Amino acid sequence: MPWSKRRPLLPCKDLHCVPGLRVQRDVPLAKFTSFRIGGQAKCFLVPGDLSSLENTLDYLYRKEIPFYVLGQGTNLLVSDKGVETVLSLKELNRVDYAMDSHSRCVTLTADAGVKIRRLLAWSVKSGFGGLEDLAGIPASLGGAVRMNAGTRHGAINEVITEVRLSGPGGSRWIPASSLQADYRDIRLPQRILISGARLHLSPKSRKNLVRRVKDIMAARTRSQPLGMASAGCIFKNPKDDSAGRLIDTCGLKGRSIGGAQISSKHANFIVNTGGARAVDVVSLMLMARDQVRAIADVELTPEIAMWGEDVQEIFN
Ligand code: EPU
Repeated sequence: MPWSKRRPLLPCKDLHCVPGLRVQRDVPLAKFTSFRIGGQAKCFLVPGDLSSLENTLDYLYRKEIPFYVLGQGTNLLVSDKGVETVLSLKELNRVDYAMDSHSRCVTLTADAGVKIRRLLAWSVKSGFGGLEDLAGIPASLGGAVRMNAGTRHGAINEVITEVRLSGPGGSRWIPASSLQADYRDIRLPQRILISGARLHLSPKSRKNLVRRVKDIMAARTRSQPLGMASAGCIFKNPKDDSAGRLIDTCGLKGRSIGGAQISSKHANFIVNTGGARAVDVVSLMLMARDQVRAIADVELTPEIAMWGEDVQEIFN
């Protein structure tokens, strides 16, 4: 969500002078989302490092320009009409490794744009455990921390020790324990984004790590439509139940609107079968939410982020 709903003031103007910042206009966002859906960003900002991110944030906050933060775009539905300003963290992708010679544990300090997949591949190859239960999560580190991404086996907050927050006034590291982590959410102060995190990993047998990752991936492949364009699970699981099971019980598997379809493999996935629009996805979400409410008396809430007032309003 943008931190302010005030109208933007000439979004791209002046930003060309921020060192290390790439400024692009009218960038189609569909290719930056795993859903392959969405209109254009009028102003698409790609800081090349932390300092250019801080200068960009300083400018955006000072001019009161609302913006959306883009990681890997894997949990995201973008309006067909597009949005004004997007700040992409994809080029913030440094990783540093520090080994504690006594405990043999390692601390990874990584930028928000680093993919979880890259950290997991390194940790399995190097024999460090802690990330294996997150196998198959396609997110960036920043996105994963922001939504406390996870699986039935665990969530990312279990291995995060510190989080770097950036906002007006620069960046600072804070203990992860001071940000309350809930199921698929953390509490973050307003006007602040996550620009990096520290992870604590412990030595573990490589053979066991490989086996664990293979098992999790096999289970995902069996139950989820992994080869298709989607945003992962659409709704959060209600307490002690499964959104997929509830939508399935309503008989909605395979139901289509336009190019969007409730997956016939897993009912909590909506897939883009080709040419789906954001309104198609939102209409299916409404249908699922209303039927689950009517039949099971359970309120489903979206897990995905939604960009653009029109899609947000349809669902609210
Ligand atoms: N089920 C159905 N029909 C369906 C789907 C599921 O009956 O169409 C039943 C299953 O048979 C099972 C139960 O519902 O008994 C739970 O299903 P599943 O094991 O697939 O897990 P889930 O609760 O649907 C959660 C996470 C997934 C994660 C898996 C595996 C959420 C919202 N979903 O799914 O995360 O991959 O566990 O750990 O927390 C995501 O966050 O994007 C995501 C896909």
